[in-house]
Amino acid sequence: DLTHRLLAFSRQTPLAPKVVDIHDTLESACALLQRLIGEDVDLCLVIGQNISNCEVDPAELENVIINLSNNARDAMPKGGRLTIEANEVMCDTQNKMVRAGELAEGEYVVVSVSDSGTGIEPDVLHRVTDPFFTTKDVGKGTGLGLSMAYGFAKQSNGHLSIYSELGEGTTVNIFLPAHADEVDEEILRRPEVDLEGSEKILLVEDDPALRVLACNMLEVLGYQVESTEDVEKGIALYHQHGDFDLLLTDMILPGGRNGRDLANDLQAINPRLKVMYMSGYTENALLHHGRLDEGVVLLQKPFRATDLSTMVRQVLDS
Ligand SMILES: Nc1ncnc2c1ncn2[C@@H]1O[C@H](COP(=O)(O)OP(=O)(O)OP(=O)(O)O)[C@@H](O)[C@H]1O
Ligand SMILES: [Mg+2]
Repeated sequence: DLTHRLLAFSRQTPLAPKVVDIHDTLESACALLQRLIGEDVDLCLVIGQNISNCEVDPAELENVIINLSNNARDAMPKGGRLTIEANEVMCDTQNKMVRAGELAEGEYVVVSVSDSGTGIEPDVLHRVTDPFFTTKDVGKGTGLGLSMAYGFAKQSNGHLSIYSELGEGTTVNIFLPAHADEVDEEILRRPEVDLEGSEKILLVEDDPALRVLACNMLEVLGYQVESTEDVEKGIALYHQHGDFDLLLTDMILPGGRNGRDLANDLQAINPRLKVMYMSGYTENALLHHGRLDEGVVLLQKPFRATDLSTMVRQVLDS
């Protein structure tokens, strides 16, 4: 069942765990959230003192927080409160999840995302983490947000639980094993840049979950984004909307032609168009055999939402 869930999350990316300070990770995710959730939702970040570090993939944790916040926003069309909380708890043999074999006994950092929204119908609650389960309109939701969050929690040796009351709201708890080690150094060195912009971006990515995530992220930062899934549709969108500032494209795309071909076609029309590629882990291996020109900007998947925004800003400013 777990393998199914993980495979269904089409990126199939291995996690790259690092020892992170949950406080810092949540703060950096929250810096982007207020815009994502809009003015009618109050964002509240509550982090207990002296929370242990965790060994998780920070990019995935950030993506999970963004997905859960998207759900919270959708559940509060008239506004409300989004609370992101981190606490440390001891789960001993008395704990329900430990007794059910869902969680090993031990110390956990619990990251909770709560909203004051519609709540979830009790008879669908057990299905919401299933891949592709969605109650949203076609084109609105892929049904992968919670399944990805669940997969992340399990791969991080933790667990995900949901508490919801109709008309009151929902809390999603992510249990992550507490870790005694110091934070990995590379995590500490992250540049502060102004990430906002208003440029026009053409986004071509065939993975729907990643496309929605990147699109949301860039839109909340103020960019105008048009997105689609392959080279032909990308070219059509370009002709339809024109004057894009940046092409952000996956390197490997369905339909025989790749991101490189798309960039060549569009730069023939507009030589000033900037290009940035995204590429998965296995694809990178292919690309390093001298096939990548100098000056090509490549963002390696999986990436943190903040890495995407930082790199987009840098490419546009270059
Ligand atoms: N905070 C919430 N409040 C109310 N319902 C929720 C909440 N989070 C999830 N749900 C319900 O669970 C379903 C599945 O959520 P999930 O995040 O997996 O997919 P989605 O939001 O529909 O689509 P996607 O996240 O891929 O855009 C949602 O369609 C919604 O019915
Ligand atoms: Mg969702």
